[in-house]
This record gives sequence, C-alpha cells and structure tokens, in this order.
Amino acid sequence: MAHEIIVKTKILQSGTERAVCIGIDNGKITAVEKHLDGDREFDLKDYLTLPGGVDVHTHMREPGSVQKEDFYTGTKAAAFGGTTTILDMPNTIPSVKNELALRDKLDIVKNRANVDFGLFGQLSDIDQIPGMANLAIGFKLYMSETTGTSGTIKTPLELLLNSDSLAGKVVTVHAEDPRMFADDVCDDLHRHNLIRNMKAEFMALRRILSIDSQVKLNLAHLTTAESIDQVKAKRASFEITPHHVLLHDASNIGTMGKVNPPLRKKVISKRLFDTLKTGRAIIASDHAPHTLEEKSVEFENAPSGLPGVETRVPLMLALAKKGMIRYIHVQDMCCTLPAELFDMKKGKIEPGYDADLAFYDMDNMVKIEPDMLHSKCGWTPFEGHDAVFPRRVMLRGQMIIHDGELAVEKSGKFLQ
Ligand code: NCD
Ligand code: ZN
Repeated sequence: MAHEIIVKTKILQSGTERAVCIGIDNGKITAVEKHLDGDREFDLKDYLTLPGGVDVHTHMREPGSVQKEDFYTGTKAAAFGGTTTILDMPNTIPSVKNELALRDKLDIVKNRANVDFGLFGQLSDIDQIPGMANLAIGFKLYMSETTGTSGTIKTPLELLLNSDSLAGKVVTVHAEDPRMFADDVCDDLHRHNLIRNMKAEFMALRRILSIDSQVKLNLAHLTTAESIDQVKAKRASFEITPHHVLLHDASNIGTMGKVNPPLRKKVISKRLFDTLKTGRAIIASDHAPHTLEEKSVEFENAPSGLPGVETRVPLMLALAKKGMIRYIHVQDMCCTLPAELFDMKKGKIEPGYDADLAFYDMDNMVKIEPDMLHSKCGWTPFEGHDAVFPRRVMLRGQMIIHDGELAVEKSGKFLQ
C-alpha cells in the first residue's frame, strides 16, 4: 500500500543513526521501514530527523503583554527552533485562575498558533479547579511571587493538591520559598543569585515533596544537581532550562540574564550540566520574553525572564555535535519525555505518533545572532553560542518551515 507521504531520512534508533523511510497518512506516522512507497516523497537523506520538540514551559504573553510576545510570534519562533508543541503558562493578564479566564484566553489564541499548544491553569483557589480541569493540559503552582503572579495561593497546599479534579493531572511547580530570600539590593546577577538563593529552592522542594497527593508533580527549572537528587528520590519529574546549564551569574549579560530562579555560580551550572548526561531530565525553555526597553533599566527594576523557545533544541544539538551530550538524550529530553509526561502521542518517530518532525543538517552549526530569531522581543541571552537550527519542520504531516520561511501559518491545534 502506498502511503500519502514518505520521508527518506536518518533517525535515531536505539541510540544510533539509521537510514529509514517514514510513512505518513492523515498527519500520523504509519510506518518506519527501510523501504516504503508513497504518493508524495521527500528526499531528506542527508538530514538527521528528530521528533518535533515539545516545550512544556513557555510564556507566550497573550493576552495582556503582547508588546513582549504574542501567540503568533511566539509559536512561530518555536517552529523555527524545531519545536512543534508548546504549553503556555497561566501568568498572562488576567491570570488564568478560573474557567472563564481560561475560555477567554483560548478564544483569543486558538486560531493564531503556528504549532500545537496546550494551556495551563493556575492553582490558587480550590473551588476554581473543577471548572478548568477539562480544558487545561496541566496546572501551575507558584510557591513564591515572580513576574506577573500576585496574590498567589488562596487554599492551603495540602488541600489544593488533593482536589479530586487534579488526580492524575500534571502540576508543574515553581519551587522557591520566599521566606529564604535575602533582603538586599539587587544590583547584578551575582546579587540576584544571593537573594533568591539555592536554599530557597531546597526548602520549597522539601515542602512540596512532603505532600501526599494523586497529582503528577513536575518541578520546574531546577538549578542544582542536589535539587535533582531531592526530586528523584520522590519519583517526581523535573525540568532543566538551557540557561541554567549554559549561563551563570558571572556571564556578562546584565539584565538579559535576570531570571527566576536566578542563574547560579559557574561551578553549580557545570554540575547541573553534567546531570544532562544521564538523559533523564525534561529540557524546557521557560521562554519568558520581555522587551529590550523593559530590560534596559536599572538591574533592580528589570523584570525577570528571558526568551528561549527557539534556541532550546538548537543549543542542545550543537552540544551533541560537539560530543558533550548524546544525540539520543537530546531527543529524549527535548521531545520524548515531555510528551510522555502529558500523555501526548508526540515526541517519537514510531507508528501511531503525530507526524511532527524536524530535519537538521548537522554540518550547519551557526553562532546565534538576535536577528536570526523570530520572537517579538528581538534579543537573546545566547548570542554567540553554537546552535543547529532545523532546515525544515513538519507539523502533523504538513511542512510548516521550508526554505527559511513559515510555509504554513496558524495550523497549530489546541491540545487538552
Ligand atoms: C517568568 C515570566 O516572566 O513570566 N519569569 C522568569 O523569570 N522565569 C515567570 C516565572 O516563570 O517565574
Ligand atoms: Zn516560567
């Protein structure tokens, strides 16, 4: 039987590169074999093909802060970075703490996404959870205030996490205990790290991991190897960001590196990097763009957050190309594990999975420049870092990135 589409390319199978044909029908992968017939054929034999990336932690800023980013630009940036699924955090304006806000947000963004997307609800008031539970792909819990999150938690944590409507759902936790924060002048990256210190992370983790519940706990943006040990002991999942492994508090990037939780010392970031060699983390960007204007103020007054949805997979692939981490781990950490956590049929090149694919020419390593990127914010803390961007990107069987252009717009689908 001829498939609608076949792609001849190289993929990673059990850790090694293999030349295969991927058969695609109705937007799904239907076969992966040595030889296949198809009505339409893409010859991409020279490219290394990964599943489309799944970024489970982004802030696309719509509604409320579209001067920083909007759903169209943020998801376009994702696509250009080989990411075909993003999950959007609830600290938009108004924040998504009830069903009405969630429905309104969905109405605003649903026809403008260039990649598939899901929306988080924010945990605050237990009575609001049932109304959000069907639409939200997961829930976010902020244990401290951070950019755009005020009046954070109304119901005691134990009760909140034991809401019947949360059973089996992913709860992603921003774990910083504000009682540990030092009271000091925050005038550079080094001080920001001392103020929102590692102890704040350890204490918040200890507290959240001590609560019994039926939720799937996922700890966002862990910054130290010790934090990971703490979380692994409780069999929870966790995210690591590219910035916490590649940047540190002495990186000379000023307010561009101001982010919560903060960039740590170089030695801490190196040890965090080493944990990637086991391939067990979820790599998420925490894409949190602010405008250059908003960042161009005194350090203390600058908002926390930095962009990263477009550079997440390309940075990791460059590290793999240089032999610092394994390709198969990049695939696991950027695609497979995040999709599995949220029960998506994505993140693998196997029959039954969505035909979301990103095609990379691994000989085309470049240095990141802001003007290559597509986020509305127009800057990156990773300027000068090596990266491998995809040549083409397919979303459910449609080539959405082709010849350096967004070839198909707004074909992203809502995931719930
Ligand atoms: C995020 C933002 O700007 O929305 N900022 C950040 O520093 N990470 C909020 C957050 O996730 O803490
Ligand atoms: Zn975030």
